Amino acid sequence: MFNELYSETVLRHVRSPKNMGVIKDADGEAKVGNPVCGDIMKLYIKVGERKGEKYVKDVKFQTLGCGAAIASTSIATTLIKGKTLSEVKKITKQTILKALGGLPQSKIHCSVLADEALAKAIKNYRSKTKTALKSN
Ligand code: FES
Repeated sequence: MFNELYSETVLRHVRSPKNMGVIKDADGEAKVGNPVCGDIMKLYIKVGERKGEKYVKDVKFQTLGCGAAIASTSIATTLIKGKTLSEVKKITKQTILKALGGLPQSKIHCSVLADEALAKAIKNYRSKTKTALKSN
């Protein structure tokens, strides 16, 4: 039943998620959750600089949630790793859904969580950077 509902890509990321874990000295972090299902997702990013542009040097995630949430976050991390922050900004929930090969209608909200986590981690990084600049 599960196999019939999900794309091969989703199943691959559920069986073997990419970039799972924690970055202890992360430059940006996010914690998002869905109050309805109770699933929680944490995302950590490490930001580097390449040719004068900030980019996602490393990314890790932890998801206490359903398979679709795990697959969505896993694929989102593969989409943003190595990308500049302006490229990451262009990634939407549709980008994640398309990369997954779609999700059943009842699971769309799981991919929305991954998109929210990305945006929140970048925002957290930007606010930390601003604070650091102000205190210098
Ligand atoms: Fe809640 Fe998937 S059922 S994130």
